[in-house]
Amino acid sequence: MPTPLLSRRARPLTGTLRIPGDKSISHRSLIFGGLSVGETTIEGLLEGEDILATASAMRAFGCEVERGKDGRWHVHGRGVSGLDEPADVIDCGNAGTGARLLMGVAAQQPMTTIFTGDGSLRRRPMGRVMTPLSQMGVRFATREGGRLPGAVIGPETLIPIEYTLPMASAQVKSAILLAGLGAAGHITVIEPKPTRDHTETMLRHFGADVRVEDMPGGGRRITLVGQPELTGRKVVVPADPSSAAFPAVAALLVEGSEITLPGVGTNPLRFGLFETLIEMGADITLTNRRTEAGEPVADLIVRHGPLKGIDVPPERAPTMIDEYPILAVAASVAEGTTVMRGLEELRVKESDRLGAMAKGLTACGVRVDVDGDDLTVRGAGNGVAGRTTIPVDLDHRIAMSFLVLGMVSEEFVAIDDAAAIATSFPGFADLMNGAGAAIAPATDVAA
Ligand code: S3P
Repeated sequence: MPTPLLSRRARPLTGTLRIPGDKSISHRSLIFGGLSVGETTIEGLLEGEDILATASAMRAFGCEVERGKDGRWHVHGRGVSGLDEPADVIDCGNAGTGARLLMGVAAQQPMTTIFTGDGSLRRRPMGRVMTPLSQMGVRFATREGGRLPGAVIGPETLIPIEYTLPMASAQVKSAILLAGLGAAGHITVIEPKPTRDHTETMLRHFGADVRVEDMPGGGRRITLVGQPELTGRKVVVPADPSSAAFPAVAALLVEGSEITLPGVGTNPLRFGLFETLIEMGADITLTNRRTEAGEPVADLIVRHGPLKGIDVPPERAPTMIDEYPILAVAASVAEGTTVMRGLEELRVKESDRLGAMAKGLTACGVRVDVDGDDLTVRGAGNGVAGRTTIPVDLDHRIAMSFLVLGMVSEEFVAIDDAAAIATSFPGFADLMNGAGAAIAPATDVAA
């Protein structure tokens, strides 16, 4: 049964909001814990559906994964190439990151692993991971177009490769490095545009030898020495900047708001949205900056204020790829035009986010143009009309973006199904309502 929700004009948003753990780092902490010898303790793990699916997958590979009474998670790993062949199909749910990283894990030893996922994940392309892993000697059997369900068959001996990423994708980079753990030799990934580097940071944290060189033109060359001995570690997961983005934009838009978001990850390869909002005139202060388990974090203080439209350059896309839907919401309420360029990767996320934002914003009364992979939003300098229901199509970030837009709409913005929000931000509606939002079940509204 779908759970429709409706968001109305909010009161000023105030207070300290605890944002759930970073999704990217949570997936990786469970995976690296499982590939290590000894115990890994994880503090602040995101307990969203995507991550719980990865926890189940690591159990299927023979690892012990448990939640302690104090909320810390404990993983007893099997070491690199020490996993069991899963006895059943691995269901990654909605998680593209879970699926692609675990395909790398499955490839690093001779065994057969079958993956599937929900309707959204089964539409998403896996060819981007299969191409480099095939060069390493891994075999696949998938549905047409590299779609799941599909089997990954790890070879007896992995071939170390040097691979240049044809698209800016941390998932593809990570799948190659994870598979490369099982190879004797050096595995090199060249990324013409740097993408989030949590895999490299965590590989180092667990004891692998990883070298990262900056290349002329801004790219990076990452080299891993295969077959390392990884050792269990303590991981502290920062609050997810991609989740913090929703209350942060809500506070910027709703008059009279001031909120504090403690312990948010500020890794520069994840922080492009906040950089962009500050360029738009946002009042965002970073305090108490520190480093936890190799990742930079800070407390964010966000206050309401006017925003102005800007031109967001395509080079910034990898540092804010998941944040374009909520940026488009901010742009709708800003004064003037915002142009977001180079968004081709948005079309292959949990849904076609470029299409979904253009259609949904238009339905809310916002003037939007799509030209190739560029999105232009003409901000009205105040709220939007709303009074519409947005189809979410199993996409958590589309769902949360439109609930935030509802907070500054004349009447309301509704979504047809809130279920996907639990993949990355369990408790989103309650947290926002506690701060001043008015999000409620939409059963009584015929939009
Ligand atoms: C992620 C990488 C990004 C991002 C996703 C998480 C990761 O995907 O959109 O939400 O944790 O590596 P791509 O690698 O496809 O850009």
